[in-house]
Amino acid sequence: MIEINGLCRSYNNTEVLKNVTLSFEPGTLTAVLGRNGSGKSTLARHINAILLPQRGYVRVDRLDTSDDSLVYDIRERVGMVFQNPESQAAASIVEDDTAFAPENLGLDTDEIIKRVDTALRDAGIEHLRKKPISALSGGQKQLTAVAGILAMRPGYMIFDEGTSMLDPESRKRVMDCVIRLKNELGIGIIWITHYMEEAIAADRVIIIDRGAIKADGTPEDVFSDTELIADSGLELPPSARLCMRLIKEGFDIPLALTAEDCAKEIHQLAQRLTEEKR
Ligand SMILES: Nc1ncnc2c1ncn2[C@@H]1O[C@H](COP(=O)(O)OP(=O)(O)OP(=O)(O)O)[C@@H](O)[C@H]1O
Ligand SMILES: [Mg+2]
Repeated sequence: MIEINGLCRSYNNTEVLKNVTLSFEPGTLTAVLGRNGSGKSTLARHINAILLPQRGYVRVDRLDTSDDSLVYDIRERVGMVFQNPESQAAASIVEDDTAFAPENLGLDTDEIIKRVDTALRDAGIEHLRKKPISALSGGQKQLTAVAGILAMRPGYMIFDEGTSMLDPESRKRVMDCVIRLKNELGIGIIWITHYMEEAIAADRVIIIDRGAIKADGTPEDVFSDTELIADSGLELPPSARLCMRLIKEGFDIPLALTAEDCAKEIHQLAQRLTEEKR
């Protein structure tokens, strides 16, 4: 478990994180939402000890990030994927990049080979292992970054807008991979995003606003508070926006979050209206 307790951070006398208390479980996908500058990246950087708490504490599987001697252990447990697919590779060929971390851990060759094979398979990019990273699409580059982290056998992965520079198809591919890693390997995923349609695929949604936690619950719970969403400078997911427009027009329809549910509700509404006319 990742435990964050009373975490505070200021830059130039401006509080960027205000007494944040939160925990993250393995095997759970948590979407972290919030407008630009709300403190999402600052929070993420505290989890893998890039930043240290000015007040409060952060513990990863009980390891305190403020303890210098634990930093490498913590970074093995919490992998981080960043926004830009161009700037994360440590080698020029996919399988060499995946081998980079286990080589640095000083593991023996057999173990490195085993880890690389498993990581490439789990990231779904075995077929790309001999390819130069420069020849890959943005989505494939992000999956290469994922494989590089998997080779460290992490308990948690943080994606700080890891899909924001990708086309919709690649975004979906990376997201599908992450959901699989959560379900099959029990990895705890912290998914920072500006895409509300990604947040509805999460188990849990957190909204951070001006450095404080404003909401924490299931996507259904969090998005049903439409005022809170607007106050936080966020939008509803596209399907829920469509439902809201219909509700404002006087139609009797619930707030559906996914495209499938939305289509079902509109279909049922249309049937009811047809029957009423008869
Ligand atoms: N190194 C720094 N020095 C000074 N201020 C900083 C620094 N890093 C972040 N900030 C400020 O802290 C606040 C939170 O920044 P942060 O990057 O955590 O926001 P964010 O929620 O990730 O935003 P975005 O959605 O734009 O990525 C912002 O006001 C930002 O300007
Ligand atoms: Mg950010």
